[in-house]
Amino acid sequence: MTAPVLEVEDLRVQLRTPRGTAHVVNGLSYSVGPGETVAVVGESGSGKSVSVLALLGLLPARTATVSGRALLHGEDLLAMPADRLREVRGPGVGMVFQDPMTSLNPMLTVGRQLVEGIRAHGEVPKTEARRRAVELLGEVGLPDPGRAVDRYPHELSGGMRQRVMIAIALSNSPALLIADEATTALDVTVQAQIIDLVEKLQADHGTGVVWITHDLGVVAGIADRVLVMYGGRCVEDGTVDDVLERPAHPYTRGLLGALPDLTAPADELATVPGVPPAPTALPSGCVFWPRCPVRADPRCETEQPPLAVVGASGGSLPHRAATWCAEEVSLV
Ligand SMILES: Nc1ncnc2c1ncn2[C@@H]1O[C@H](COP(=O)(O)OP(=O)(O)O)[C@@H](O)[C@H]1O
Ligand code: SF4
Ligand SMILES: [Mg+2]
Repeated sequence: MTAPVLEVEDLRVQLRTPRGTAHVVNGLSYSVGPGETVAVVGESGSGKSVSVLALLGLLPARTATVSGRALLHGEDLLAMPADRLREVRGPGVGMVFQDPMTSLNPMLTVGRQLVEGIRAHGEVPKTEARRRAVELLGEVGLPDPGRAVDRYPHELSGGMRQRVMIAIALSNSPALLIADEATTALDVTVQAQIIDLVEKLQADHGTGVVWITHDLGVVAGIADRVLVMYGGRCVEDGTVDDVLERPAHPYTRGLLGALPDLTAPADELATVPGVPPAPTALPSGCVFWPRCPVRADPRCETEQPPLAVVGASGGSLPHRAATWCAEEVSLV
């Protein structure tokens, strides 16, 4: 087997808040192979964004405690000095956030930001970098890229700024691309164009991708594997076919609209009755038990179920779920 691009082991994040310690990520482990796409899904507040911000040291140092390991080609991102981490961002890890305004510099034209990114990590002449910047803006679907390159972020619409962010993240052909709801705000045609671009990058450079999304259409279209997060834990993971077609955890089944009392699968994650737990007051036992419509095992409320292999996987990788009742719930 080829060495993974990213190996996350027992990632934990606690944040100090006025309401006490928030246990936002609680022992997350996964890996991303070269050219592989892992989709991370789960309701809002399940710790998806915090889990990836932690990898790049982007959480507030005063209030965040991060532990575990996150090996990028064997080098631990969580143990890296700040200057090494800055070097790694770009050619090592490209990241596209939900809100482009927090990451674009309002004082510089988008071209300047792209050119600086391209030149910061390689010997590229300025004119060549600018030509590449215009080309990238065209590839992410920006109309009239030759003019857009000289615009400031505030002169562009939200969707265009989002595409600029994506262009910047792709500009260094990173080993790992982390996209956090990167295409959610974009129309379907542009979204498809960007997904094609990411797939090309993966084919050409073996880029590993972590793709956080609410959109099951996107998951089905791009993911090789799916990781379902709830209460800062992985409650189910497996190949895209196993998780979407044979969901084993009651929470995943709820999200897919596959529980008997919920409506047929929609394009977006379905709503599961009830609300997710506050990370300052996680329930003991199975983190999903207060909302679980099928809880039956006496251990549900007291013991945390381990992430264990469930049923026969249709793919080459194990299909795992953290539930005491996989047998009872695995009949779709
Ligand atoms: N800087 C922060 N300080 C305190 N709590 C935070 C901070 N950032 C996120 N949280 C909390 O952590 C939890 C997970 O947030 P997040 O990772 O953004 O969820 P998701 O991306 O899955 O919607 C939420 O309860 C959120 O309120
Ligand atoms: S362990 Fe129990 S409470 Fe948790 S998902 Fe399974 S059945 Fe529901
Ligand atoms: Mg988020």
